[in-house]
Amino acid sequence: MSDRPRVLVTRVIPDEGLDRVREACDVDLWEDELPPPRDELLRRVSGIDGLLSLLTDRVDDELLDAAGPQLKVVSNFAVGFDNLDVPALTRRGIPAGNTPGVLTETTADLAFALLMAAARRIPEGVDYVRDGHWRTWGPMLLMGVDIHGATLGIVGFGRIGREMARRGGGFGMRILYHDVHPASPEDEAELGATRVELDELLAESDFISLHVNLTDETRHLIDADALRAMRSTAVLVNTSRGPVVDPDALERALRDGEIFAAGLDVTEPEPLPADHPLVALPNCIVVPHIASATGVTRGKMAAMAAANLLAGLRGDRLPTPVNPEVYG
Ligand code: DGY
Repeated sequence: MSDRPRVLVTRVIPDEGLDRVREACDVDLWEDELPPPRDELLRRVSGIDGLLSLLTDRVDDELLDAAGPQLKVVSNFAVGFDNLDVPALTRRGIPAGNTPGVLTETTADLAFALLMAAARRIPEGVDYVRDGHWRTWGPMLLMGVDIHGATLGIVGFGRIGREMARRGGGFGMRILYHDVHPASPEDEAELGATRVELDELLAESDFISLHVNLTDETRHLIDADALRAMRSTAVLVNTSRGPVVDPDALERALRDGEIFAAGLDVTEPEPLPADHPLVALPNCIVVPHIASATGVTRGKMAAMAAANLLAGLRGDRLPTPVNPEVYG
């Protein structure tokens, strides 16, 4: 039997990470396009020293029991880690890592792309041409809402929210933000951003972009009341986590013209079935959780996830732990 650490990698990730893990460990790689079913995951974690998980894998007491007391580290291939039961990991002294920083700009790029596509009705225009409806220049055809000079409200002013502010600044937008932690006056000045309460942000913004973590406080933060508080010309963009928005309330608001449009990279549930009412709405753009999906960024995420995994296996501090409290 090899004395190399045993690890489970729950999906094929870019070589920038996988190669490093393979060099140092005996790897059980789940190669399917879909995540391992729960019973398979619980079977495969038994006896491993390290787990490289994805946001589709729930890491909780049940999984940690199934893995056994030798488990040294969990490395999540994502910046978000709402799939990890962090208190359960910490209670057992197991460090867990995520991949912050490397996907910030790429995610903000996609959020801004959704904002623009929803405002200017790009998918509807593409369908219009594809379906053979384009017969002349139309003075009333596919009118959208202006982006330049509009007000952008950013909910959650962390790394990605701030990059969104930069992009809005480039379009001459007025930037409002809401966050429980105010940015420093220097950062606010640099980004041209003003902190406001959530109800003011909802009422004042032409575009509302969500960049909060999913927690008990942010689950369905955008509910029927929040949607009613928005302008009828407002565009909502979500690249954070699906459950931050109540999907039934959003569907009603889009259908009844309470808001103008939405661009969603994340949904509840995820994946969103093709026959879900939100998919059928012309003023709702849904893409399959691809905000960080560029070759360069996913490569960096893989390298970072590998670095966390290997550090944990060596007993070193993880470069980016989500539960630094395990180190006392
Ligand atoms: C994350 O990293 O949390 C994104 O949702 C996927 O890149």
